[in-house]
Amino acid sequence: MKRSLRNSTAVLCFAFFAAAAPSPSLREQARSAGLLVGAAVRPLHLSEPAYASTLSREFNMVEAEDAMKWLTLRPDAATYDFRQGDAVVRFAQEHYMKIRGHCLVWDHNNPEWLTQNHFTPVQLSRLLHEHITRVMQHYAGQVFAWDVINEAIDENGRVRDSLWYNQPGIGLSEKGVAYIEQVFRWAREADPHALLFYNEAESEALNHKSDVIYAMVKDFKQRGVPIDGVGLQMHVPALSVDSATLSANIARLAALGVQVHITELDVSIPVDSNGLALATHVARQAEIYRSIVHACLNNPGCTAIQTWGFTDKYSWIGSHSRGARGQAFNSLVSTGGGAKGAVVPDDWEHLVREFTGVDHIQHMYVMSEITALNKMCEHGRYHFEPWIIPFVLDPADGRPLPREGEQIGRAAVFDLLPSSYWGGFISGDEVAASFEQCACGRTTAHLDRRIQRYSDKQNGDDKITCLASEEAHRAALEFLTARLA
Ligand code: XIL
Repeated sequence: MKRSLRNSTAVLCFAFFAAAAPSPSLREQARSAGLLVGAAVRPLHLSEPAYASTLSREFNMVEAEDAMKWLTLRPDAATYDFRQGDAVVRFAQEHYMKIRGHCLVWDHNNPEWLTQNHFTPVQLSRLLHEHITRVMQHYAGQVFAWDVINEAIDENGRVRDSLWYNQPGIGLSEKGVAYIEQVFRWAREADPHALLFYNEAESEALNHKSDVIYAMVKDFKQRGVPIDGVGLQMHVPALSVDSATLSANIARLAALGVQVHITELDVSIPVDSNGLALATHVARQAEIYRSIVHACLNNPGCTAIQTWGFTDKYSWIGSHSRGARGQAFNSLVSTGGGAKGAVVPDDWEHLVREFTGVDHIQHMYVMSEITALNKMCEHGRYHFEPWIIPFVLDPADGRPLPREGEQIGRAAVFDLLPSSYWGGFISGDEVAASFEQCACGRTTAHLDRRIQRYSDKQNGDDKITCLASEEAHRAALEFLTARLA
């Protein structure tokens, strides 16, 4: 199998609409490289000549962008409406293209009758099992690979709260990936010949989330849970990509014996009010497409690359960002100070990235009373700067706990930097601190990201009294009163 494409063709979306189409087509080059190159499509546009001819000329695979989701397939509990999905299949067959199916289980794009009806776990389990079976059998022999389940793990590596998991779920709530395993088993029974994929966002490079997915796939393979592939969505919201660790992630997944498909590739760039982008951004965008294509070509386990749509005319990007997406390109969002009692959704990081286009979110444990920002490392631990001497106090009596091993209690610090007499601070936060070396290599004390206020824990009641405060307060008042007199 040849695994090289000429550099010029790596610029996917933009090459297609260049005045003089590159020759040979992307599809021809993909074929000689032994690669599937696909696009997500909307059946409505298949009757548009430019759309149809570009699609069939440049791609050898298609996926229904929305036409095989519950929202389209299931107008009500009793009906299956395959018309839109069938239109995609027909187009693909007429043009000798492979078909990916997307997606059988997801917490989005579900009809209201399903989400609003307060079904019990038993009813949901029956509905989902039946849906997987009916849909896969309808497309058996046509859809060669299915995204069985989409986006089931959240940013923190936990199984994402969802209709199918725990709201109320299919009866495997709070049992971790057991419900994911269940849907893969149902899928294999429904169509033993289709390749079964787990599809996910923001886990393309090496990071905590991709570690969790890797561990899940490894466990599934060891226990014989039927899984054949991992789909890396690859929506690039800002002009940067970690292609080195993308390669490493593809390689480690492939080593488990699963295929990797890049399933939803797109690279957002900011545009002005006329819809025009800066030439430098377009060039950078091309480099990013190129590096991703190379990461796939260099790994035999990566067998398909697919873009999420192929023309800006019908891209989902604008519709989902209300025009703001990408505007904060190359910016940094820094967190700090805590949520102060506000309830934020579990996937807030994803939502912030999605809306603003910001790629980097730097988490910090900050208090306005001290002179350090205490950033989070790549292992999700807040590290104190070297001039901050942290203590963990026993919440019952305020005594410092030993500064060794792991300690849970009230966070307090000495700050060596301010040129004042006052450099200590006792916080209202319950923290879990470690005084051991962190997995990132740093030797400074570090905290778990889950920090809770004692006042939230104790219904607003958290009074911190410092020994010296009473006296200091009186002295300050006397001093000021004397000045006023
Ligand atoms: C998007 C479609 O592009 C939109 O048309 C639709 O309104 C919402 O869904 N990750 C996925 C895709 O797995 O199914 C999503 O598709 C984009 C994000």
